[in-house]
Amino acid sequence: MSKNISLFKSYLDTDTPAYKGGKSKDQINFDGPIYKLSSNENPIGASPKAIAAMQAKMNNLFEYPDNTDIRLRTALSTFYKNELTADQFVTANSGVGIIELIVHAFLGEGLECIACNPAFLPYISFPTKVGAVIRDVPLLGHDYELDIEGIVKNINDNTRVIWLCSPNNPTGTYLPKQDIDKLLAHVPEHVVVILDEVYFQFATAEDYTTSLPYVLKGKNVIGVNSFSKAYGLAGLRIGYAYSTPKIGRYLSKLQRPFYINTLATEAAMAALTDHEFLELTVRTVNEGKAYLYPELDKLGITYWKSQANFFTIKPTMDPKLFEEKMQSFGVMVRPVGNFGAPGCVRITIGTREANEAVIHAMENIL
Ligand SMILES: Cc1ncc(COP(=O)(O)O)c(C=O)c1O
Repeated sequence: MSKNISLFKSYLDTDTPAYKGGKSKDQINFDGPIYKLSSNENPIGASPKAIAAMQAKMNNLFEYPDNTDIRLRTALSTFYKNELTADQFVTANSGVGIIELIVHAFLGEGLECIACNPAFLPYISFPTKVGAVIRDVPLLGHDYELDIEGIVKNINDNTRVIWLCSPNNPTGTYLPKQDIDKLLAHVPEHVVVILDEVYFQFATAEDYTTSLPYVLKGKNVIGVNSFSKAYGLAGLRIGYAYSTPKIGRYLSKLQRPFYINTLATEAAMAALTDHEFLELTVRTVNEGKAYLYPELDKLGITYWKSQANFFTIKPTMDPKLFEEKMQSFGVMVRPVGNFGAPGCVRITIGTREANEAVIHAMENIL
């Protein structure tokens, strides 16, 4: 007896690929040093304190980790000078893991979210996986400003999530505090604003803000954070978010037991105390910008000044071709057309040697 009932969810049963990350170094055929500047990784490696903390636990891996993440959440509360309580934090296997938790917690079939392209791909691809509708309200103008009116117009009774990112991947631009204030004044109680701030340590603009002031005021705002960038722990997969106690507790309902593994717990807690490494990372990125910007000016290339550890350019050739040509000099970069920035390429700021390799390659290519 065949009834017309499908095993498969129509919004999952498509040819659209799941998230496609950047290439790894071994996918590159180059005889010489390879500079991987395509995934916004830390230019100087990983926090030594985090590495030492993991090494100290290596012989304990036969034991299960803590069954909750309370030690890490308590360490986060201390890191935020006790302005936030432990129950305002939620942890996950990376920033992307946090985004996934948010999607499962607030979105589903018949529900909607608003994204502002160019944007980090999971804001669009993850809601699609649960059948939610994504409304795109693109950022405006050369500086990629928030279209506040456009966002407000797109909020309806089914809206649950607004995705914001500052500093923004892939543009490296940021959302000034006054714009976020303005938007929040118009967001109803049934909507949560996500402020992805995984690059916040690199932001220097005076009117830059994280989610903290809004969360302290009890607004429905979630700050998304990661240990992948400023602490150099991308391979470990550990991230966290903070929000109101109500939202923090609500999100943590979705966590599996033993969600955060032993090494990630120890490394993250140690990284939070590694001020020296953080300072050196930020200094390296700032020195990189001081070197790169005048060189890019000399090349006459269109680029955006960045508040993050990467910058975006618009080469005068097809981005895929530019990527290939850069690879022929051992430099890996990332075309970001699929992030909603057609014609653009994102380049991570590296060590002085890596940055010089970028400029050398560009001088030859452009
Ligand atoms: C804006 C943004 N959010 C979140 C993430 C996720 O970081 P991870 O999953 O490595 O913690 C990234 C990574 O590139 C990012 O650029």
